[in-house]
Amino acid sequence: MALSDDDVAAAAEKARLIIREVSKVVLGKEETVKLVLAALLAEGHILIEGMPGTAKTLTARAFAKTIGGVFKRIQFTPDTMPADIIGFYLYTPTGARSLVKGPIFANILLADELNRAPPRTQAALVEAMQECSVTIEGNTFQLPRPFMVIATQLPHGFAGTYALPEVLVDRFMFRLWSDYNPPETEVEIMENIDYIDELPVERVATPEDVLAMRSLVKKVHVSREILGYIEDVLRAVRQDPNVLIGPSTRAAIALYKGARALAMLDGRSYVIPDDVKELLHPVLDHRVRVRAEAEVEGVRPEDIVEKALSEVPVPK
Ligand SMILES: Nc1ncnc2c1ncn2[C@@H]1O[C@H](COP(=O)(O)OP(=O)(O)O)[C@@H](O)[C@H]1O
Ligand SMILES: [Mg+2]
Repeated sequence: MALSDDDVAAAAEKARLIIREVSKVVLGKEETVKLVLAALLAEGHILIEGMPGTAKTLTARAFAKTIGGVFKRIQFTPDTMPADIIGFYLYTPTGARSLVKGPIFANILLADELNRAPPRTQAALVEAMQECSVTIEGNTFQLPRPFMVIATQLPHGFAGTYALPEVLVDRFMFRLWSDYNPPETEVEIMENIDYIDELPVERVATPEDVLAMRSLVKKVHVSREILGYIEDVLRAVRQDPNVLIGPSTRAAIALYKGARALAMLDGRSYVIPDDVKELLHPVLDHRVRVRAEAEVEGVRPEDIVEKALSEVPVPK
């Protein structure tokens, strides 16, 4: 069935409500909030990276509260084990066992400071993200729907962090950069901190609303020209002489699905080039590894993506 204008308008209106609600407490980060919502609607997971104290955790908590459903949080430390996330069987002396479900059984899971977890624990989380299920002692359990991981990490090099391996980072649809707040915003945060601390956001959507919006997003139209543009950008990035590891097909899929969600948030039933352009940095920056020689000269992944953004011809 084709997408009706009424369905798109209603979904866009609901999305506006969610973004407005979160932005009551997360000041000056509408773009981040919008992209978190786009990832949720595109069935993706989000990695928010940046300096400490820049509202990474607050964004995830406020966002989860507006959607309703089950919200869980894992604060990762160097001794967090896979069983702490997925759960385990508890055995009684008689040999009977009962399942203790881990915090991963949630609609929205905040995986806070993921890069402080040891690799085996990171891998357990990523398997769940990919499969939407977990396996405990050979038994597989489905996770609730929707299921979204919002992971946060400190920039590489902070004490006590393990860099996330490329294969793992590739599983995140978007990586968002959380920068220091500008001075005006910081003043506003200080003036409103008692209010912000209480997290006074209302639930304005349900998990069922999210599932309904997800199925609408799948009906958003993507033309051949848009697909061609995505391929041209990916080729430009992969062929850049400064690139050691380029974006995988997961990046193409993330651009495709993410652009459909952005179109829906904007009240359109079709994708335009701007939807794709807006996502190039969030989708590609964390999937590009620069050659060592270029890195020494200061070339960063975002420079390579920016070059592709400015040079690849955009369809009309
Ligand atoms: N943009 C912002 N809007 C509202 N509060 C903010 C913002 N940036 C930082 N804060 C405040 O700073 C503190 C740290 O935020 P938090 O989300 O815990 O940081 P992070 O998880 O990035 O280390 C919180 O009290 C939060 O309310
Ligand atoms: Mg935090």
